[in-house]
Amino acid sequence: MCGITAFSGKGPALPFLMQGLSKLEYRGYDSAGVTTIENSGLKTVKCKGRLAQLETKLEDYHLEGHVGIGHTRWATHGIPSHLNSHPHTNGDETISLVHNGIIENYKELKDELLEHGYHFHSETDSEVVVLLLDYYYQGDMLEATRKVIERIEGSYALCIITTHEPDQIIVVKKDSPLIIGKCDGAYVAASDIPALLEYTKDVYFLDDYEIAVLKTDSITFLNKNFRTIKKELVTVPYDLEAAKKDGYDTFMLKEIFEQPHVIQETLRGRIQDETIKLDELDNIDFKQFNKVHFVACGTAYHASLCGAHILEHLIKVPVFKDVASEYRYNDPVIDEKTLCIFVSQSGETADTLAALRLAKSKGATTIAVANVLGSTISRDADYVLYTCAGPEIAVASTKAYTTQLVLLILFAYYVAQQFGHVDLKAIHELKDLPNLVQKILGDIDSFEQFASLLEHQRDAYFIGRGLDYTSVLEGALKLKEVSYIHADAYVAGELKHGPIALIEEGSIVIAVATQPHIAAKTMSNIQETIARGAEVILITNSLNPPIDARYTYVLPYVSPILQTILVAIPLQLMAYFAANIKGCDVDKPRNLAKSVTVE
Ligand code: G6P
Repeated sequence: MCGITAFSGKGPALPFLMQGLSKLEYRGYDSAGVTTIENSGLKTVKCKGRLAQLETKLEDYHLEGHVGIGHTRWATHGIPSHLNSHPHTNGDETISLVHNGIIENYKELKDELLEHGYHFHSETDSEVVVLLLDYYYQGDMLEATRKVIERIEGSYALCIITTHEPDQIIVVKKDSPLIIGKCDGAYVAASDIPALLEYTKDVYFLDDYEIAVLKTDSITFLNKNFRTIKKELVTVPYDLEAAKKDGYDTFMLKEIFEQPHVIQETLRGRIQDETIKLDELDNIDFKQFNKVHFVACGTAYHASLCGAHILEHLIKVPVFKDVASEYRYNDPVIDEKTLCIFVSQSGETADTLAALRLAKSKGATTIAVANVLGSTISRDADYVLYTCAGPEIAVASTKAYTTQLVLLILFAYYVAQQFGHVDLKAIHELKDLPNLVQKILGDIDSFEQFASLLEHQRDAYFIGRGLDYTSVLEGALKLKEVSYIHADAYVAGELKHGPIALIEEGSIVIAVATQPHIAAKTMSNIQETIARGAEVILITNSLNPPIDARYTYVLPYVSPILQTILVAIPLQLMAYFAANIKGCDVDKPRNLAKSVTVE
């Protein structure tokens, strides 16, 4: 979703703004722009398309201003176009702003401004905000901002600059991410940490409704009531290298190959003397809950399905799972005896955040499983467990998914310990996971060969049962996200109830069979597709699968619960290679955004 950068400092603002926007490209965007405060006034340069086009356009301007804002836009209100792209300015070009989020009452505000004689140049909800600032401005931009915040509803991260007060940026947020960085001789802001790392690791996390005023050598924070507050400066543990491609052609491949390391990091310190240690949760008595809800979106939802399955199996307490966009509107039964787990890589997904707030308002105990330190979901939940995947830049989630699986499995075993259940074999095997993942990565050529079968396919059918079904859901999502091949996942036992009608000579079926108690059943279902002409790619842990699939990969054998982590690797690599052969933009698939901060 939209990316924001802002700079107020000694040097020119443009280099920071542009490098930051390039680090935020992964969020998805269709237009980009910057405004700086020059001696002659505000200078705004923007265009539809990629950052490279903006850079070309910028060659005709000489932006040297020390205060500026930048934006990559992912269209919500209004098509991708020059006029709809940010920054937006008022009529006499004295105020400019960038906005991430959605102003829900923009129509009513727009009508009001039209009545006051204002003209609109774009179809965006954001332009309403800049004109409203113009309307309220009477010599004090902070005061105008206060009045605007009282009027706007919805979600926003806003950075506001004005020629009237040319040495500052006003920053305010609600339900949209915005992080502030303290540099040598500058204060900067951005939607996500990677945009700051080249300049600083020292950051402030703004809470909803908080305001910051950034100047070259000072920063002021105000709370909801516009009273000055102090904020803690936090040093983030990421390094710049983690946000670079490191010799790989794409972030997706780099992140797939980082999995042994980040799984190791996620396990670190959490297994001691055959016991799972999650100190963050030590105050919780898990026996008080009569049900558990897992809520998430996208890939994080697939990790949740797996975590939910395992937890229920171990503790025999009802566990429900839902995608956040449904959960929040389905009137779920939540009370003080409900434990709700929210899984989110970014910690900013709008639906997951809203679902968390709903659960809290009904008295549930909430735990966030997040990757981004200090993200809104991680701060809003009662408890937080962090995956240690580091910055994930590719839109298609890979390392965040496997670290979520690892952490949710650790969590399930941790809770099970309170119920007196200990699985020593699995605990030992957990420690060996990084090595096993490394070994599978060594077989990359097999997955490239399997993926070549997909090059000219329009459809692919993924099948599995039990935990393998949660794996194929993610496998199908990965393939369609990056290669645009239509892919669906089916419970293998459901094939006969419809999907098998689609199977014909040359159809590609990707089957996963790793769960010993049901693998034989899946094998029979595979056989049924082969009988109808399907070409099967089989991922199994059985050394002698009882079927004749030409393309078979045999995974290392581990406890069934852990098998999902290993299955993920071949499925990710097949999706990667399928997209690569087709020449797709693997890291930035069309229409997708990394961090979905609107409903
Ligand atoms: C977007 C991303 C997915 C991600 C989902 C949930 O759709 O493209 O990769 O799984 O959002 O994001 P979250 O940050 O909450 O895990």
